[in-house]
Amino acid sequence: MHMTPEEFRKNGYAVIDWIADYMEQVEAYRVLPDVEPGETASKIPDHAPETSDGFASMLADLDVVVMPGVTHWQSPNWFAYFPANVSGPSILADLAASGLGQQGMLWSTSPATTEIEARVLDWLVDLMGVPQSWKSDGPGGGVIQMSASDATHAALVVARHSRRDDGPVERMVVYVSNQAHSSIEKGCTVAGIGHCRKIDVDEAFALDPEKLRAAITDDLARGLVPIAVVSAIGTTATTAVDPLEAISDIAQEHGLWHHVDAAYAGTAMICEEFRGYQPGLERVDSYTFNPHKWMMVNFDCNVLWVADREPLIDTMSILPPYLRNAASDAGDVVDFRDWHVPLGRRFRALKLWWVIRYYGATGLRAMVRNHVDLADQLAGWVELDDRFELFAPHPFGLVCFTHVEGNDATRMLADALNASGSVAVTPSEIDGTCFIRVSIGQTHTKERHVEGLWQAINELA
Ligand SMILES: Cc1ncc(COP(=O)(O)O)c(C=O)c1O
Repeated sequence: MHMTPEEFRKNGYAVIDWIADYMEQVEAYRVLPDVEPGETASKIPDHAPETSDGFASMLADLDVVVMPGVTHWQSPNWFAYFPANVSGPSILADLAASGLGQQGMLWSTSPATTEIEARVLDWLVDLMGVPQSWKSDGPGGGVIQMSASDATHAALVVARHSRRDDGPVERMVVYVSNQAHSSIEKGCTVAGIGHCRKIDVDEAFALDPEKLRAAITDDLARGLVPIAVVSAIGTTATTAVDPLEAISDIAQEHGLWHHVDAAYAGTAMICEEFRGYQPGLERVDSYTFNPHKWMMVNFDCNVLWVADREPLIDTMSILPPYLRNAASDAGDVVDFRDWHVPLGRRFRALKLWWVIRYYGATGLRAMVRNHVDLADQLAGWVELDDRFELFAPHPFGLVCFTHVEGNDATRMLADALNASGSVAVTPSEIDGTCFIRVSIGQTHTKERHVEGLWQAINELA
C-alpha cells in the first residue's frame, strides 16, 4: 500500500524535474490566472477515490488541474502585494524537513529542530544588527512562528497577561497607526482586548507621536488601561516607517509593551544602510519580521524576538503531565511550545539555515540592494513623467504612484496592467486617493523586468 523507498526515489525525481521545469518556464506564464470561481474545483471528482489514483496521474494533474489556477508569485514579473520569494535551497530544505517529519514542540521531541532554530536566529541577530540581548544566551530570544499575524497576536497576549491586575480586558487599549496592518486589530480581537486605537499619521504616513500621546492621555482620563503600542517599520500600504524612538519614549512613560512589526522591511536590515530606520531597538519589547516575504525563504517562516523571554513563557506555558520530561524539568533546554500558541511545530529552521548558508550574508545583501536599486530606478522614471506622481517615499523596494488624471485613471491603469497578463501590481487607496503599488522583490526580478513593466505602464496609461 505504501510508497517504497525505491518508488519514492523515482517519483521524487519526477517531482524535482517538474519543479525545475516550472522554474525555467515561470516567466512565460500570464502572471495572474484567468479562471472563474469554481473552475478548479470542477476538475476534481465529487468524492475521494476508493483505491489509489496512482502517482503518475496525480503528477499529471499538476498540469491539468493545478496550473491553470496558479497565481505566479514566483514570476520575475510579480510586482503585487509584497514578495513571497522562494529559492532552490529553501525548497529543498522544506523537502528534507518533510522527509524527517519532526515534531519540535519540546527540545526532547526534536533536539536538532530546537537547537538549529535557536542558533540560526542568533545568527540573524548579528546579520540584522538587532540587540545582542535578543540572542538565546541573553534575557531575550527568538522563535519561528507561522506568520507575522501569529507573532503580533502572541506579543499582544503577553502584554495583556502582564497587565492582568490593572483592569478588565475590555478596558485595555492597544495603539497603532491608522496605516498599521490589519493583523494588529485582529490580534486585539482574538486576544479579547477591548480597544485598538488607530492614531493619525503625518504626510509620510508615519505615526504622529504627539497624536499618540494625546490619545493615551484621553484614554487614561476615561478610565481605560493603555497596555501596548505597535510600531511599523514598513507599513503594508506604502512602507512608511514609524518614529521608533519617540514611540519608545511614550511607551516607557506609560509602561506600554512596545512591539515592532517589520514583517516586510525587516529583511532589509541585513544591509547596514537601512538600520537607521530602526533606531533604539534596545528599548522595544518585541519585534517580528517575515523571512517568508523578502528573504527567499518559502512560506511559512516568521521570526519573533522578545527582549525578555520570561513574560512570554509565563503567558504561554501550561505543563500537563504527558509533556513532562527530564530535560525540561532540569531547566537545561528551550521548549519552543512555550513561546507561541500552537503546541506542535515543524522544522522551519532548516530552510532559513540553508538559505543563509547557500547565499551567505553577501548574497542576501546583494539581493536586497538589487531590488531597492530597481525600485529607485522606477521611482526616478515616474518622477520624470508628467503623467504620474509618486504617492509616498520609497525607502525599500516598494514604489507607490498615482496617475495625475485622478482616481479613475489610476484604477484603470492598474486594471489594464493586471489584465494584460504580463505583470501583476496592486491597486490601493488611502483617504480617497487611489494609487498603484509596485513591489519589487521576486528572487529573479532583474532590470529588464522592471523595464518591461515601465513599458507596459507607458503603453496603457
Ligand atoms: C506590515 C505587515 N504586517 C503584517 C503582515 C501579515 O503577515 P503574515 O501574512 O505573515 O501574517 C503583513 C502582510 O503583508 C504586513 O505587510
